[in-house]
Order: sequence, then structure tokens, then C-alpha cells
Amino acid sequence: MTKIAAIIGGGVIGGGWAARFALNGWNVQVFDPDPEAERKIGEVMTNARRSMPGLTDVALPDEGKISFHDSISDAVAGASWVQESVPERLEIKHKTFGAIQQACDPEAVIGSSTSGFKPSQLQDGMARPEQIMVAHPFNPVYLLPLVELVPGNGIDGPMVAKAKAILTSLGMYPLHLKKEIDAHVADRFLEAVWREALWLVKDGIATTEEVDNAIRYGFGIRWAQMGLFETYRVAGGEAGMKHFMAQFGPCLQWPWTKLTDVPEFTDELVDLIAGQSDEQSGAHGIRDLERIRDTNLVSMMRALKQQDWGAGRLMKAHEATLRLVPCWARAQTISQTPASPCKPCAALCRLIGLTTTVT
Ligand SMILES: NC(=O)c1ccc[n+]([C@@H]2O[C@H](COP(=O)([O-])OP(=O)(O)OC[C@H]3O[C@@H](n4cnc5c(N)ncnc54)[C@H](O)[C@@H]3O)[C@@H](O)[C@H]2O)c1
Repeated sequence: MTKIAAIIGGGVIGGGWAARFALNGWNVQVFDPDPEAERKIGEVMTNARRSMPGLTDVALPDEGKISFHDSISDAVAGASWVQESVPERLEIKHKTFGAIQQACDPEAVIGSSTSGFKPSQLQDGMARPEQIMVAHPFNPVYLLPLVELVPGNGIDGPMVAKAKAILTSLGMYPLHLKKEIDAHVADRFLEAVWREALWLVKDGIATTEEVDNAIRYGFGIRWAQMGLFETYRVAGGEAGMKHFMAQFGPCLQWPWTKLTDVPEFTDELVDLIAGQSDEQSGAHGIRDLERIRDTNLVSMMRALKQQDWGAGRLMKAHEATLRLVPCWARAQTISQTPASPCKPCAALCRLIGLTTTVT
């Protein structure tokens, strides 16, 4: 039986989730009140169909069907995964979870794409709080593997294991955060970098293009393959991490950064940044830019796959499971899966830190 995912809110992120599920063979049922939602998701699907199959050297499963529904209750019918991607406003999220839980299978995972809310905030007042967890993805959802999975402090068990197994079967990397915090992990970095970039442009130190060049010609490439700490370990040379910290620790006290100060979003600053961005990238339409981005991402991840490193190692492990049908990683729910996964699935489970004896 084809697996069903419900996508509640089909904008930038919901559209990306729809593509990730559909291209992995799931039927997708969308609810979004925007009359343009079907057209917008159609455009995301066009880009995803063009780029996502390039990640693997094995054919993806037959594409699932995407259907559009007039109510949340219709959209969640029969779904084993419900992904909420409505606007980042708590009252809208609560109303949406209420409607989802009235109609969905109590065994279905309800993931929230929220960038900033903690799971306890989302779960507050809900009928089955532990069914709702943060599943925070990164744009474009159909290419980038990371999902921050935050079930809430002290919450673990079969629902979390099931969520990890399903995300892994989609070629994603569930980073399971055991402790909740505002904005999870990755967005805390992104906020810090974003704040610094705004200051640099506002103070006339660098243009938007110069900021981008400072990232993409240097540390951005480094980060993509080793992250932060492993990169700094290498930077410490033979003397290693302690030496690196001794050398660069004190400068954190110097006035290099603006840290938590945020420049006010005056009309002047917004115009300055939007104007520079138009000058830098305005020659391309948004869908063109998405295609350029997607081609670059696929090329970079394929290079990492050859090296069996970082996101490339995950892709390689996922690809090995795609060669086997049926197998543990592609089963619909954990309760339907054999107790012992095959070798490639076991390797994938080890990579994401999921016990291989879930039944
Ligand atoms: N844009 C990003 O880079 C990004 C990345 C990760 C997570 N997120 C998170 O994803 C969520 C959605 O963000 P987005 O960027 O896709 O926003 P978006 O504005 O592109 O999409 C939101 C969609 O929700 C629809 N919507 C509004 N009210 C609704 C309702 N009551 N029920 C169902 N659908 C409704 C809108 O019509 C729209 O299509 C937010 O929580 C955001 O924090 C965004």
C-alpha cells in the first residue's frame, strides 16, 4: 500500500516537503487555503524532479500522487506523517494542530517545520502532546538532508523512533535534539551570522555581494564538509583543539562582533539591502536562482558522496538501501518491519544513531 503524507501549509517549505515525500514514492495530500498553492507546488515539483534524482545513482521509487484538499480533515485522512508548515505564528500553529488531531490517525507522526518555537510551546493545550514534534528542515527540503527533530524535554519512545526511521527512509538526516531550546541549533548560528551581516551592510563595511563572497569563496565551502569544530581542530594544527582554543579564545573578548545587538529594520536599511541584492542577483528570476542553487548543491553533495564524507556519506548509505526492495528503511511503519534490518539498513541506522532492534 502506498504511504500517505499530509502537507498542511504548502508554501516554500511545505512545497519542498511535498516534493521530498512524492519523489520518494509517498502519496501527498495538501491543504493550503491559498488559491495559488497548486501552481506554486507545481513549480517546486518541476525543480525537484529536475534535481533530486541526481543525488543518487539508483532510480528513486515511482513518484507518488499529489492531491489538493479543501479541509485539514480530508488532507490528513490515511496519513502516517502529517507535516505542518503554516506561517510562524503560534496561534495559527495551535489552531492547525487542533484540527489535525481531531481527524488524523493517533499513530501518525505530526511534524512541525517551525524555525523557532519549542515543542513544549507547540504541544501546549493539545489533546495528544507527544504526537507533535519539531521536524525543522532546510530549504530546499527536497535536497538538503538535515531535519532537526525535537520531541521535547524527556520525550522519547516509539513515536520518536518511528519519526527517525521515516525521515531516514526519505534520505534525510534526523538530528535528534534531546533538549529543547528556542530556534533549535542551526538557526541559532544562522541568526548570529545574519545579525553580523546586517551590521556589515548597514555600517557600509561590505555590500551584500561582498558578504556573500566572503562566505562562498572561503569558510562556507569548509563548513559544508567539516562543520565548525572539526574545521577548528584542523586549524589547531598538530597541537590540536586545545591549542586552537588557547590561540583564538581570548579574541572573543575583543570588540570584533556586535553579538546580540540587532540593527533596527528601518526603511533605509531595508531599501539599502534590497537595492544591493537587486543589483547583485536581480538579473535572475527566483526559479532560475533556485535551479542554479539546486545544480550546485547536487554537484557538491555528489562530490562528498565520492569521498564518503559528511552529507555524502549519508547519501551513499541511503543509496545502498534503495538498491534493496523491500527493506527495513523503506517499510511504512516500524511495526510492519522485520526485527533485524538488512546490512545496508543497519549501516544507515548506525549513522543516524537509531537502534537497529526497534520492532
Ligand atoms: N522559509 C524558510 O527558509 C524556512 C526554513 C525552515 C522552516 N521554515 C518554517 O516553515 C514554516 C512555513 O514557512 P514558509 O517559509 O514555507 O512560509 P510561506 O509563507 O512560504 O508558506 C506558508 C503557507 O501556509 C499557508 N497557510 C496560511 N495559513 C494557513 C492555514 N491556516 N492552514 C494551512 N496553510 C496555511 C499559506 O497560504 C502559505 O502557502 C514556518 O514555521 C517557518 O518558520 C521556513
